[in-house]
Amino acid sequence: MDSKVAIIGADGQLGRALVARFGGAACGWSRQDCDLTDAQSIVARLDEAQPEVVINAAAYNQVDAAEDQIDLAWNVNARGPERLARACSERGIRLVHIGTDYVFGNGPAPIGGWKETDLPLPQGQYAASKLAGDLAVLRESSETQPALVVRTCGLYGAASPTGKRSFVNAILDRARTGQPLRVVHDQRCTPTHVEDLVEALVRLLPLRASGLIHFVNGGDCTWFEFAAEILRLAGIDRPIEPILSSDLKQKAARPVDSRLSTERFTALTGHSPRPWREALAQRLAADGVLAGSN
Ligand SMILES: NC(=O)c1ccc[n+]([C@@H]2O[C@H](COP(=O)([O-])OP(=O)(O)OC[C@H]3O[C@@H](n4cnc5c(N)ncnc54)[C@H](OP(=O)(O)O)[C@@H]3O)[C@@H](O)[C@H]2O)c1
Repeated sequence: MDSKVAIIGADGQLGRALVARFGGAACGWSRQDCDLTDAQSIVARLDEAQPEVVINAAAYNQVDAAEDQIDLAWNVNARGPERLARACSERGIRLVHIGTDYVFGNGPAPIGGWKETDLPLPQGQYAASKLAGDLAVLRESSETQPALVVRTCGLYGAASPTGKRSFVNAILDRARTGQPLRVVHDQRCTPTHVEDLVEALVRLLPLRASGLIHFVNGGDCTWFEFAAEILRLAGIDRPIEPILSSDLKQKAARPVDSRLSTERFTALTGHSPRPWREALAQRLAADGVLAGSN
């Protein structure tokens, strides 16, 4: 990848993995460097660095808090990408933006998963604001540098230096500290290793792919099945109670079935995402917690 790449949201889970993957070919901007709620800060960074490609890995991701912080969620997730897309378009910069499976709150997924052409039905402010961001990026995109929006699901990666935990780390921590494990068994999706998403973006960039593309690991599970596999692979024998989403009394509704079809990704790249279990085992091995790997 020869292009000069700028990564927004560089301190986040995906942002850190992108900065690590692109190394010296990228500049990583944290919220302090480039704030999506501040058009001036976006324009100043773009004009200073003059990147060829911008990857927006920043978002307001607190699904339940977004029900109370509606203005902030929409400012970051909808108007932020819109500002960024406009600024990129005016400068002939290609924009790659990241979307979420949460836009599909429509009930059971069609056979093979939700396609890019399926109509989303977001439930809650996080999902609705993210969908508005996807659409703004596609709308503001220039004809010469059409934007790419990659929707993904259930990201987990290396442990965060700030202590923010992924689902994988949260399950391991609770199991090791003897806390009860209760996990929903009525939401189906595909957990995705953040490094697999990074490699998917690396494949898509030289193809100059544009529009919407779904990328997740292969297969699917409920969050309960995901948690059970984390403990099995880590060799931890602890019971997990399967519960219903309604037991959690969360403010925002989650999709019951957000399996995404990766057919378009495979058609474009010739690559099939590896199964989620294989990706998870590699993450746990890298963290030194895969049973029998030490
Ligand atoms: N995590 C998942 O399971 C998941 C699933 C599907 C899709 N996605 C999407 O994947 C992308 C990456 O997610 P992630 O898991 O890497 O998220 P993350 O770890 O929460 O990182 C998001 C980053 O965005 C930054 N940010 C927040 N507000 C900002 C603003 N106004 N301006 C600039 N930066 C701002 C945050 O900075 P601070 O730390 O300073 O707040 C944080 O570093 C997001 O678009 C997300 O919606 C994630």
